[in-house]
Amino acid sequence: MTNHKELQEEIKKRRTFAIISHPDAGKTTLTEKLLFLGGQIRSTGTVKSRKSAKYATSDWMEIEKQRGISVTSSVMNFNYKGHTINILDTPGHEDFSEDTYRTLLAVDSVVMIIDAAKGVESQTKKLFKVVSEHGIPIFTFINKMDRQGREPLELLEEIEDVLGIESYPMNWPIGIGQSFQGVYDRHQKAVEFYDTEGDNKQAMQISDLEDPVLKEKAGEDLVNQLQEDVLLLDEAGATYNEEALQSGKQTPVFFGSAISSFGVPTFLNHFLDLAPSPAPRESSEGEVKPDEETFSGFIFKIQANMNPAHRDRVAFLRIVSGTFEKGMEAWLERTGKSLKLSQGQLFFASSRGNVEKAYPGDIVGLYDSGTYQIGDTLVGSKNVYSFGALPTFPPEHFAKVRAQKAMKQKHFYKGVQQLSEEGAIQVYRTAHWDEIVIGVVGRLQFEIFEYRMKGEYNVDIQFDTMPHQHARWIETDNPEDKVDSIRNMLVYDQLKRPVLLFQNDFALRWFKDKNPDIPLRESR
Ligand code: G4P
Repeated sequence: MTNHKELQEEIKKRRTFAIISHPDAGKTTLTEKLLFLGGQIRSTGTVKSRKSAKYATSDWMEIEKQRGISVTSSVMNFNYKGHTINILDTPGHEDFSEDTYRTLLAVDSVVMIIDAAKGVESQTKKLFKVVSEHGIPIFTFINKMDRQGREPLELLEEIEDVLGIESYPMNWPIGIGQSFQGVYDRHQKAVEFYDTEGDNKQAMQISDLEDPVLKEKAGEDLVNQLQEDVLLLDEAGATYNEEALQSGKQTPVFFGSAISSFGVPTFLNHFLDLAPSPAPRESSEGEVKPDEETFSGFIFKIQANMNPAHRDRVAFLRIVSGTFEKGMEAWLERTGKSLKLSQGQLFFASSRGNVEKAYPGDIVGLYDSGTYQIGDTLVGSKNVYSFGALPTFPPEHFAKVRAQKAMKQKHFYKGVQQLSEEGAIQVYRTAHWDEIVIGVVGRLQFEIFEYRMKGEYNVDIQFDTMPHQHARWIETDNPEDKVDSIRNMLVYDQLKRPVLLFQNDFALRWFKDKNPDIPLRESR
């Protein structure tokens, strides 16, 4: 048993976060540098190799190996300066899926990477929306300062305008691209010079911006520019507001260059200081505090076939309160039944290990032969409560699907039902012919669906991809009257609620203009 003081100490140590970005902004590179600092990997390039089809870990899905990408998000756990850190991966590119969104509901803070040359990009916007709706604290790392990029002030303006969050630069770049010399830490009044060797660069303390060392190293012009910029920020910029930071209304901004680990150690130090440790969570019985003795957690992701030799799935549990102990008994709120949590796993950068004990903020992988569903609550006592269903996210790709052989109909429906319960796809039926339409957040989910229907249910699928891009739940008594075959299509979800699928943004806007009184909802 863990005593209360021990539990509180473990909670205080923990930081559980996700990194969000648009593909190519540098998520893999930054993750690697963080793992390197934590001693999880001895050289960088380890995580990267997962992207480049070369790695051959037997337990990734075949499709991942073929495509050289990671289909499902994983969890990386490491220790650094007395902290226990869990990074939850949010897959991007084609492997963008509902899991990417749902992962954001299992973290206590988020790091947003922005490419200095590209600014705020589309995928970042989508992920940011979820983060901001849930009031999660968000830290910004503006990457690739070693390359010619946009003006730092312009980037801050874009963050405020496009994302609607106040920004507070914690450090400020001295030059950019070819002339990039380093960053000035506004809080510590220290300068980190870009030309320092090694992956663990530390800042140099200076007296103030007139310090001769600064001019000597960075040159008169850049220092003048820095003084001007810092003055402007001090006078006209946002004031640092810890409360706004903790509620996700202000983002501290850091400039750096992940590839050379420049700005990464100081970023991590500030992050560990400021990012919250595991927070209480609302439940049907009121707020559950992490240091409550009773263990509790919720399932935010189910990953199938990590080992192709078995059909087992792994359910990802985020611990909310108490201590997880191997072999413990817990009750599943949805069924009221008790379970023995005998085989929990903690996740590391490139491997998994059995876990004896885990604490709030940790993610434990539970073997699952079909017991769990997304959003399930587990409680270590008979007096169960629920953390509530996780929201669904709007799919952007749709296809009509059916079994190639009519004989396989029964297996087909079973597979569709199970994969939908797992949260891999959303399922609808057409208004007239009762055809099955599936909706997914990322296109690769179609391939995974096809692969799993064949592998797990022995059904070959016939696909007809559809041109639609948006699904909206419509609230009206006569949804049929609102159908306009050129721009939208009516389907019903599994609870027989009407949903309109729109071909594009224009069709959606057109509908809203024509029917201002009919509410359209992005999720159920
Ligand atoms: P992602 O996971 O967000 O998709 O991005 P990733 O880290 O893979 O980085 C995308 C590309 O940007 C990579 O180059 C990477 O080396 C580069 N990069 C990341 N951080 C920095 C930085 O601070 N400065 C510069 N100049 N480049 C950076 P690539 O050519 O696509 O891949 P590779 O050939 O280097 O592996």
